[in-house]
Amino acid sequence: MNIRTVSTTPFPDQKPGTSGLRKSVKVFQSPHYLENFVQSIFDTLNCQGQTLVIGGDGRYYNRQAIQTILKMAAANGVGRILVGQGGILSTPAASCVIRENKAFGGIILSASHNPGGPDGDFGIKYNVTNGGPAPEKVTEAIYARTQVIDSYKILEAADINLDRPGSFVLGTMDVEVIDPVAPYVKLMESLFDFDRISTLLTSGNFRMCMDSLHAVTGPYAKAIFEQRLGAPAGTVINGVPLEDFGGGHPDPNLVYARELVDILYGDDAPDFGAASDGDGDRNMILGRKFFVTPSDSLAILTANAHLVPGYQDGLAGVARSMPTSAAVDRVASQLSIDCYETPTGWKFFGNLLDAGKITLCGEESFGTGSNHVREKDGLWAVLFWLNILAARGESVEQIVRGHWQKYGRNFYSRHDYEEVDAARANEMVERLRSLLPNLKGKLFGNYQVAYSDDFSYTDPIDGSVSQKQGIRIGFTDGSRIIFRLSGTGTKGATVRVYLESYEPDASKHDLDPQEALAPLIGIAQEIAQIREFTGREAPTVIT
Ligand code: G6P
Ligand code: ZN
Repeated sequence: MNIRTVSTTPFPDQKPGTSGLRKSVKVFQSPHYLENFVQSIFDTLNCQGQTLVIGGDGRYYNRQAIQTILKMAAANGVGRILVGQGGILSTPAASCVIRENKAFGGIILSASHNPGGPDGDFGIKYNVTNGGPAPEKVTEAIYARTQVIDSYKILEAADINLDRPGSFVLGTMDVEVIDPVAPYVKLMESLFDFDRISTLLTSGNFRMCMDSLHAVTGPYAKAIFEQRLGAPAGTVINGVPLEDFGGGHPDPNLVYARELVDILYGDDAPDFGAASDGDGDRNMILGRKFFVTPSDSLAILTANAHLVPGYQDGLAGVARSMPTSAAVDRVASQLSIDCYETPTGWKFFGNLLDAGKITLCGEESFGTGSNHVREKDGLWAVLFWLNILAARGESVEQIVRGHWQKYGRNFYSRHDYEEVDAARANEMVERLRSLLPNLKGKLFGNYQVAYSDDFSYTDPIDGSVSQKQGIRIGFTDGSRIIFRLSGTGTKGATVRVYLESYEPDASKHDLDPQEALAPLIGIAQEIAQIREFTGREAPTVIT
């Protein structure tokens, strides 16, 4: 066995963000960049003799990175690696495989919803034994290691053929190339009423369109909707994963999933539309000419969970990230279950899920999931909706409107200012922090500030504290404005402004959210001086 030890020097910028280390492909291709980070993972965690899972969303550089990581794992004494065929594993499927095989952890290669290709982004994320993203103490330890690293180990060996299932040996490490789809489909079958969904999809009275945006869910969606559930061929569009996602931006929202939106808002629109992102953990849900906000989606899944076999015995509790609307809080209170508020980032749900405190959780950023894995799960959310639609026999719009009637409507919108100057964005946030102590009681038009703070979270399970998680300004009528800098961007800074108001009066539920939220949008500008700091007249993306 020929193990090479290569000298290296640290890169200052290897601090993982909201969801792992994300950089442009060009940065990852610079000599030693990937290797330094991977060696830091092996140096931080004792993977000797352990089983790891590896796979990615199929984007450009996925295959090369996997070959490098396999050889480094072999050189570092890893016992066994399960790798998805073709190097493919959606993020939720990776979580499922880690859990099912009781693996030590896994390495997921993805930059999620960021564009791919030689000029796009790449990313790497370490997941722990529960199948979820490493908690902050682990990512911080990995980062600390990247800052002092001086060498890495790699096995001199030929590449493994990733394109057919089978077992291989690399040095002393076993490599198993596994079917990336089958274990995930099996898990979905154990949660949802596939017979009932299949009856709906083959009834001739219901049509759906699933847009995989040329990203990882293509093969999963075809296997589930077309092959297993009997939906007609062509139900899944853009279903062939491409290294550059066909030049698109694989983010399932109203702006980037334009083709799907045009179909669902066009003549002869289908009854149900859904999209998922680059690595398959996000989802967008549409009815005919109707958009379901992720915050409402979480609330509606919670209110209807009793209709779904995997959740019919009730929910232990629910959780949402802080900027997600409080729609789910109202359902939780009606169900008399706990509702937790966590910082942005799926990793914060892990402890609550492991401790059995929550069953469902979700984020405004088009993520929803449950205790079935430890990642958010795009196709799971689509199946959950289909199960509810099949059980209730109503349209998406009827279900959402009925929900608002019962619980009131939380108008919600997020305004993103992408790729703005990072220094100016930080100045904006610093200035906001300095204003916080004096905002309470202040009047902005009819809105009076009830509280203002920089969100700090104490994990109820391990007591760890995460500070500076977003500037919150709450008003006496329950409205909120939140300011945060994204932790997932790779160019400049992305300023996110989250806006929420509550409307109990059903006669006002038809308002366009931008109209309903107009006073808060004005107040956000007045308090934060967004235009001055970003140099932008309007947000880049409104969701
Ligand atoms: C990823 C994470 C989510 C997070 C989202 C937005 O998808 O998995 O947990 O909500 O990014 O994060 P950001 O820091 O960009 O607002
Ligand atoms: Zn993703």
